[in-house]
Amino acid sequence: MKTYSIAAIPADGIGIEVIAAGIEVLDALAEKTGSFRFKFDHFDWGSDYYKTHGVMMPADGREQIKDHDAIFFGAVGAPDVPDHITLWGLRLAICQPFDQYANVRPTRILPGITSPLRHVSGPELNWVIVRENSEGEYAGVGGRVHQGHPNEVATDVSMMTRSGVDRIIRFAFKLAQSRPRKLLTVVTKSNAQRHAMVMWDEIAAEVAKDFPDVTWDKMLVDAMTMRMTMKPETLDTIVATNLHADILSDLAAALAGSLGIAPTANINPERTYPSMFEPIHGSAFDITGKGIANPIATFWTACQMLEHLGEKPAADRLMRAVERVTADPSLHTPDLGGKATTRQVTDAVIAAVQGDNE
Ligand code: NAI
Ligand code: MG
Repeated sequence: MKTYSIAAIPADGIGIEVIAAGIEVLDALAEKTGSFRFKFDHFDWGSDYYKTHGVMMPADGREQIKDHDAIFFGAVGAPDVPDHITLWGLRLAICQPFDQYANVRPTRILPGITSPLRHVSGPELNWVIVRENSEGEYAGVGGRVHQGHPNEVATDVSMMTRSGVDRIIRFAFKLAQSRPRKLLTVVTKSNAQRHAMVMWDEIAAEVAKDFPDVTWDKMLVDAMTMRMTMKPETLDTIVATNLHADILSDLAAALAGSLGIAPTANINPERTYPSMFEPIHGSAFDITGKGIANPIATFWTACQMLEHLGEKPAADRLMRAVERVTADPSLHTPDLGGKATTRQVTDAVIAAVQGDNE
């Protein structure tokens, strides 16, 4: 029987609660399927580890997980550790060296969930946002001098490379081509940012020639927020820079009902390194330990992980189970306006997986 080795890194806050739920669901799914199993290796890296060891993960951390089939990640962030330390010390310390340059964020309105958009009943909003995940505004280039003095200077330089832009735009065109509508929107800001974003636009136009069956258009990022809100049905696959897509995907998550549902996959398409699967949300200090974190985002990203592993039927089975559960408002957690707990939603998804005989 095929065994997938998965590095589980729950990290902080509700990350710990939702990854535990995700592992239970994946084990139940593997048992139901009967053709593969998971071997989870657990890593206690994160803010507590930082408080003891002064680092978010050990120096050989990446070495310990580089041969796993995938990484199942919770969230980082603690109220008493600066966010740039937790983010750069763990999540970005994995994404960037493992060259997980394609960040894939599906968004749609699941059964039983109401969009805050009053003209949207469900099927009008069905997107995949592709975020550049290795350079751009989050390249980490910059510095500070004369700290604390009136003449202090600080820079964050956005770095875009032709190869980096080409590969993400190409990935997005391929993804758009694989979806029924074959429709891609390239988000830009080349009116105000006249160097890198102009190169971004030029590369999009070049790559488009290799995908004559994909319809594509270009949209300034500010106007894009309006289009997502007012005309969601005109969008399908979306590609944007690291910063732009970071912001747009939180908007997308809100329009689809809740951040507690939104999944994401950090993909290394060449499979030189393992890819990493995580909910979009953070560690949510405000609800940590209350047992009410919505685990649906984690279950959905588990579907993305299964697809990446080549287990499409199992991914579909899990997604059907998730949709059966979201369709029942008595199984909604408080972020969706319900009263259900993480435990109840997890048990219901496990029961739905077990009962699915398709
Ligand atoms: P957050 O995503 O943790 O929470 C935002 C709001 O959404 C909170 O009210 C929270 O209760 C709610 N929420 C999020 N996920 C939920 C879920 N599964 N179920 C129910 N409600 C949910 O973002 P926030 O508050 O801005 O950041 C908290 C910490 O998380 C910070 O330290 C931040 O840096 C970190 N963070 C980490 C991310 C990551 O690891 N990828 C992503 C975003 C934030
Ligand atoms: Mg974000």
